[in-house]
Amino acid sequence: MSAASPRKRIAALISGRGSNMLSLMAAARQADYPAEIALVFSNKPDAPGLATAKEAGIATAALHHKDFATREDFERAMQDILLAHKIDLVCLAGFMRLLTPWFVEQWMGRMINIHPAILPSYKGLHTHERALADGVKLHGATVHFVVPEMDAGPIIAQAAVPVVDGDTPATLGARVLTQEHIIYPLALKLVASGEAKIVDGKVLTGEQINEKSLVVPNPSLRGA
Ligand code: GRF
Repeated sequence: MSAASPRKRIAALISGRGSNMLSLMAAARQADYPAEIALVFSNKPDAPGLATAKEAGIATAALHHKDFATREDFERAMQDILLAHKIDLVCLAGFMRLLTPWFVEQWMGRMINIHPAILPSYKGLHTHERALADGVKLHGATVHFVVPEMDAGPIIAQAAVPVVDGDTPATLGARVLTQEHIIYPLALKLVASGEAKIVDGKVLTGEQINEKSLVVPNPSLRGA
């Protein structure tokens, strides 16, 4: 990267294992990737992903949300940490806390989330169970900008996977997760480089991306 376009400083917010965080960390190791993971933050001090990040030499911080009287008190303390680390963009990566409009407003257009379903279908929790119960034949994942409404906001990237006979929430979830690890680094690259722009509530990614196409090759469809 040239001095004129420094890598964006990313905070990954996690609550658990942090496999999406790891996929972002792996992408950020590429010299030409427009972002670096500057901080991993968790609302759960015992989140396994925190230890993983520490081992990789990344700065970590944790605040237990239960130590705060209100949701916003917790967020104000978290915001102080993000500002202290000079964060440019926030990536929610399995961060299991609903955010208040106040916090979302601080990061409007600068905070993205990964959701394990093809939005706007299956907002909320237990997406794989609900997709299986409905008998849908396609399921997947979405990366989107965060807005005050949960699991809404302009869509940056999506990937679809087939639902196959005999799938369980675990097998379907694993198939989706493989695609999450592809589209999250791709979406962050688009946002950090400034290629993804919100126009009239939708994300435009420019001609370069249209040429390349955002369709993610689906390994399980190979040879079909
Ligand atoms: C992922 O399925 C993500 O889509 C959802 O929470 C899960 C987090 O998994 N928001 P991990 O901690 O990144 O492995």
